[in-house]
Amino acid sequence: MRLTNVLTIASVACAASDYELISLHKSLVDIPSISGDEEAVGKFLERYLQKNGFTVELQSVKPGRDNVYAYLGSKRNTSVLLTSHIDTVPPYIPYYQSGDKIYGRGSNDAKGSVASQIIALKELYESGEVGEGDVSLLFVVGEEYDGIGMRHASDKLGAYWDHAIFGEPTELKLGVGHKGIYNIELDVEGKASHSGYPQLGIDANKKLIDILYQIEHAEYPADQLLGNSSVNVGIIEAGVAANVVSPKARAKILIRVAHSTSTVSGTIKHIVDEANQEYDNVKLVDIQNKEPVYLDFEVPGFETVVLAYFTDVPNLERQFKSRYLYGPGSILVAHSADEYVTVADLKNAVDGYKRLTRYLLK
Ligand SMILES: *[C@@H]1O[C@H](CO)[C@@H](O)[C@H](O)[C@H]1NC(C)=O
Ligand SMILES: *[C@@H]1O[C@H](CO)[C@@H](O)[C@H](O)[C@H]1NC(C)=O
Repeated sequence: MRLTNVLTIASVACAASDYELISLHKSLVDIPSISGDEEAVGKFLERYLQKNGFTVELQSVKPGRDNVYAYLGSKRNTSVLLTSHIDTVPPYIPYYQSGDKIYGRGSNDAKGSVASQIIALKELYESGEVGEGDVSLLFVVGEEYDGIGMRHASDKLGAYWDHAIFGEPTELKLGVGHKGIYNIELDVEGKASHSGYPQLGIDANKKLIDILYQIEHAEYPADQLLGNSSVNVGIIEAGVAANVVSPKARAKILIRVAHSTSTVSGTIKHIVDEANQEYDNVKLVDIQNKEPVYLDFEVPGFETVVLAYFTDVPNLERQFKSRYLYGPGSILVAHSADEYVTVADLKNAVDGYKRLTRYLLK
């Protein structure tokens, strides 16, 4: 049944390369590759790219976890880099196609980008538009967890590029940038007492509630391109019983930062310092602190989009002349049980990556 669908798609115009695109994408989605378990998909890509004439290097990030770096001939530095990630969030969801939609974990985020980047470069190569030193491919592990793959490539790969195109679901638009993150934990230490005699205790819950109120109502920097910062108090754990003054309260908070993470962390630090004037019993733990990312986006023929999700872009530390974020599928269904990408998006992404690459090589 599924095979029939694939063959139907393959029978329209440009049949051969559409078939190749859809079957490459299917092979990638068929191989589970939740962050930490990327070995099989990396090995598959190594064989696939070698068979198609690329020079392929597996870069070991950790045992059983390899980044894949591929280029034409022997020039490891290239003008343009096409890059995306081969890990997915859990759980694994099998591939299936229904009409124009292809479901399955990673179908959209980001195996849709991986498949269309590969086919785009293959077609540019076959038509003689690119050669050695022009374009390379880098597919990394661990993007969905901690960015270990891209950071490892940044530190150890020893290859350099003028321009990078990062593949993530952007609905075929060029991302103008994405917000940063300031991720913290607040731990309040109180002292338990009978709730009828609150003067004998120190109420950790009350203090946390006061601080959270101030964090919710503080002013945070906005940005012309990226919009407003936003606060999410994702976890609150506190107290022991309704009739006990709470000895402990904790919250985990993630702020999507539109502009200047240091301003935001300064605001939070100020609130906590004030709260510590009376009893010094609030601990602020910085978990993650990442500045917003600004991208290039002015290319004729492309629409643009502001994104509210974090990516691997800042993990690749190079002096780029330009950086773009572009790919098939919508972030609104990525990570969900209904994750999908359309066949039309995959085909259009091949075209989009080709146009962007030509534009950058000009
Ligand atoms: C690759 O680029 C880097 C940085 O520009 C340079 O130092 C290095 O020599 C280049 N490697 C080759 C083989 O050209
Ligand atoms: C940003 O916040 C301001 C004031 O709080 C509001 O008026 C505006 O609509 C918000 N902008 C966006 C893009 O949400």
